Amino acid sequence: MDDLDVTSMMEDLRKRLKPYDDPRKRISNMPENGMGKDDILNHLSQYAESENQPWKLGKVSGAVYHGGDDLLEFLEKVYHIYSQSNPLHPDIWPSLTKMENEIVAMSSGIMNGNEAVRGSVTSGGTESILLAMKTYRDYYRSAKGISNPEIILPTSAHAAFLKACDYFCMKSVFVDLDDSFRVDVEKVKNAITPNTVAIVGSAPSFPYGVMDPIKELSEIAADQNIGMHVDACLGGFIIPWAEKLGYHTGRFDFSLPGVTSISMDTHKYGFGPKGTSVLLYRNSDLFQQQIYANGTWQGGIYFTPTMAGSRPGYPIVAAWAVMMLMGRKGYEESARKILETGKFIKNGIHNIPGIRILGDPLWVIAMASENAGAYRIMDMMGKKGWMLSGLANPPAFHIALTMRQTYPGVKEKFLEDLKASVDEAAKGGKTEAGMAPVYGMASALPEEQVRFFLKNIVEWLYSQ
Ligand SMILES: Cc1ncc(COP(=O)(O)O)c(C=O)c1O
Repeated sequence: MDDLDVTSMMEDLRKRLKPYDDPRKRISNMPENGMGKDDILNHLSQYAESENQPWKLGKVSGAVYHGGDDLLEFLEKVYHIYSQSNPLHPDIWPSLTKMENEIVAMSSGIMNGNEAVRGSVTSGGTESILLAMKTYRDYYRSAKGISNPEIILPTSAHAAFLKACDYFCMKSVFVDLDDSFRVDVEKVKNAITPNTVAIVGSAPSFPYGVMDPIKELSEIAADQNIGMHVDACLGGFIIPWAEKLGYHTGRFDFSLPGVTSISMDTHKYGFGPKGTSVLLYRNSDLFQQQIYANGTWQGGIYFTPTMAGSRPGYPIVAAWAVMMLMGRKGYEESARKILETGKFIKNGIHNIPGIRILGDPLWVIAMASENAGAYRIMDMMGKKGWMLSGLANPPAFHIALTMRQTYPGVKEKFLEDLKASVDEAAKGGKTEAGMAPVYGMASALPEEQVRFFLKNIVEWLYSQ
């Protein structure tokens, strides 16, 4: 990639990621006198009006999983009641602890857990995964004296597991996928060493939306007396109903004796506002390792179940309120709509020459193309307003279907635009817009250089 390419790529990124970057309108100092409320609200509305358009039109992969007007109005009322609450103070807000426990109980129920299951609500999938990995590190240090812990990860496992290894000084041991984009069970067996503390399986995986063979993985974990974490951050509120709705997932939950922890995100298909995920453990021995407790601090007795100190109570209450509002029937119905949309889109893609689906997914559908080039197609889709997620190794992209794509006409429009994009991309040309060139570049450079480049992009993003 030459200098010119980098310059034009950065220019395009600037337009997309920093569209308000007008030095005359930049706020670099706090105003001497506060602004009027109406002015502030107008300011926000102007941002939101254009930014909410793509997801409202159903053109965004994942990100907003429900977003229905009725639900949002309801959540605003919940916010009004609980805006000031903080579960760090269970004496001031005991109802928060009660609701958190009820979220854990309801989640455990749909994951076939029994009364021994323990857990907590975290700030999101990443925190659930970080905590679960820290728990296995500490548990097996104490149970087996392992001081150089290793985690076995399918190459499709979420980046949060690598972040956990980075943060908590654990070794990540990658295992390849088979032709169906599920982790290869035999290779997992071969990757186990005396330092292995846990195996990870996704239900389903972020990139390809396919279920790892959780049953087989859990049998290995049980046999080796190590942990088995099921990452159901994406699937936790869809897969429990999938088999009943006629889709095959295989078993994935606490009904498998080797499964020792599960993460499932209330802020994705649980339809809560951003800021919550549920982390469940099979028993209290594991959960104990997650808890931080300090009885000697000059600031007093201090304990937290998760990473944060103060936490916003509102997202927890909102997650509880949405679960109570939806009930099992409500989630089953939304899963039905999303899975049916997935089926329709998969059938449609099968009829578009020049593009293929990776693996056999349900509702998170990854696509690749040898002739037209996945990133070029993603680029063309971007020009038609679609905001899809790029994937690497192999070059591909996916759409994670949400309730927004179940609205009339959206799935048909997706297929129409996809067909046109494949045709346009097949004519050649380089990728020009949005994240597509960044993916193209990342696939062409050595890992170290990509990391260096990305860190600089992040620094640029977080500088005025
Ligand atoms: C399978 C899976 N695990 C973990 C995560 C991380 O979740 P979060 O972005 O809430 O931290 C995601 C996010 O998409 C995911 O799909």
